[in-house]
Parts: sequence; C-alpha cells; structure tokens
Amino acid sequence: MEIVRTAAEMSVRSRALRGEGQVVALVPTMGALHDGHLSLIRIASELADFTVASVFVNPTQFGPSEDFDRYPRDLSKDGALAESAGCDLLFAPDAAEIYPPHYATVVHVQRMSQKLCGALRPGHFDGVATVVAKLFNIVRPSIAVFGQKDGQQLAIIERMTADLNLGVVVVRAPTVREPDGLAMSSRNAYLTKEERAQAPALFRALEHGRSLYEAGERDALKVAEAVKGMVERESSASVQYVAAVDSETLEDVTVLRPGAMIALAAVLGSTRLIDNVVLS
Ligand code: PAJ
Repeated sequence: MEIVRTAAEMSVRSRALRGEGQVVALVPTMGALHDGHLSLIRIASELADFTVASVFVNPTQFGPSEDFDRYPRDLSKDGALAESAGCDLLFAPDAAEIYPPHYATVVHVQRMSQKLCGALRPGHFDGVATVVAKLFNIVRPSIAVFGQKDGQQLAIIERMTADLNLGVVVVRAPTVREPDGLAMSSRNAYLTKEERAQAPALFRALEHGRSLYEAGERDALKVAEAVKGMVERESSASVQYVAAVDSETLEDVTVLRPGAMIALAAVLGSTRLIDNVVLS
C-alpha cells in the first residue's frame, strides 16, 4: 500500500492522476478502520479509478476532555485493511502537516453545526468542516464518500461542499451494523462487556421509532419520546438527545415524513454513542 505523508506530495500525486484522466475518490477517516469504513472504500473504488483513504486523527474536532489521546491508532493494520477493500493510497499526514505553526483558518457551517451533537460538543463540527475542506483541497477528488452513521456530519459536509463550490460529489453510504444492530464505530472498542451487551438497545429503539412511523404515527415528539423511553428501559445509557430533523437541512421536523432523520446520542458508561435512521 502506497502511503503518502505530506500535503505537497499528495497534491502532486493527485494532480498527476487527474492529468491521466483518472477519477479520484477520497474516503476521509480517523483510522482504527472497521467494516463501516471499509464499506465506504468499497463504494469509492467502484465509483472511481483511484481511491485515496485519509487516516488523520484530527485534533481540532476533539474537545479538551474528549478521547483524542486514547483514540485507537494502528496505521499498518489500517493500511492492510484499506488495501483489502480496494484502496490505492493512504494519505496519513501528521498534525503539524495539517495545522502548521500560525495556522488560523476555520470553516464554520452556520446553524447546522450548533445543534444536536454540536450543542454538546462545542467547536466539533468546525474542526470536522475545516479538516474536510483541507483534505478536499489537498486531494481534489471528484468523489468523496461519507457514512450515514454520522448523519449530522454528512449533512454539514454536503452544505459546506455546495456553499463553497468545492466541486466534489459527496456520496452517502449506508450505516454498517454488527449482527445485533449496533452501528459499527471505532469507539465501540471502549465498551465493557456489559455495556456492549446493552448497546444494541439504541438501534432497537430507533427501529421502534421507525415502526411507529410506518404504522401511521406522524407526531415527531411522540416518536422521539418513545425512542428515548425504550433506550432508558432497555439499557443503563443516559440519553443526551433524541431528535427528528430533516436529513439534509437538519431543520427540526414536527410532522414526520420521508427524509426525516431520527437521531440520538447516548452515553453508556464513559462511551458516547450516536446512531440514526432516515425515514423513507
Ligand atoms: P471516522 O469516525 O473515522 O469515520 C470516517 C467515515 O466512516 C465517516 O464518513 C463515517 O460516517 C464513516 N463511518 C463510521 N462508522 C460507520 C458505519 N458503521 N457505517 C458506515 N459508515 C461509517 O467521521 C470521521 O472519522 C471524521 O469526522 C472525519 C470525517 C474523517 C473528519 O476528521
């Protein structure tokens, strides 16, 4: 697996590929790759001639008391996994490469960055939008693939890409789950055995919400309360929010309809988990 460490080298490599007429796709990640990430790489490599995956644990999207230091890192394992899924090149810069001394610019997507997870993690989505804008500018891909698992992040990246005319086609990839329904996440590794056994309650509750909608319930508040109640009954997780929002604009939805996303965040032990379903 070809590994590129500097932005300059990545830009040169990518420009040469484009010059040869190759369609380049980018899959941004923070590493600790699992089947969710690999599904994005598979989708990218089907759509493009050349697939770049970035591995960068982005310091600016972690709060001071969050898990930046203990976030799992294993580049050689990530390289082997990414290659098995069809990745052609791993872009793995270090923090000084992305944020050199005197770095001062932030990309802020208004409104959308401040609700749901953004209200609980101040500055988080500024860190995400900024690093993704930089990765887009360094790699200049035609296509970038992101997971629906992080539904708010995806909507913010779509907004930023359109607003700043970045010229990248953002592809939404479905959430990959464990057999018991738990959405795959690098942070699942933090769960104790007991917490891991309880964690599927989140998706069960979201599915319950979806089934109420499918049975004709349209009151978003009622459905959100039912989802919250079920998580609390079936696990010891503490729910931070359950909300119904438009999956593209993130605006609140009071009457459920296709395209609405029921999103939740909950803390199980010391691990924060998020998940969502989009109604069809
Ligand atoms: P990370 O959490 O590593 O996720 C990288 C990509 O994988 C994101 O697009 C995320 O939505 C997707 N993903 C994670 N779990 C998934 C699952 N179970 N099914 C499908 N896709 C899944 O998200 C980030 O990194 C960062 O914020 C990043 C965008 C790289 C910016 O730093």
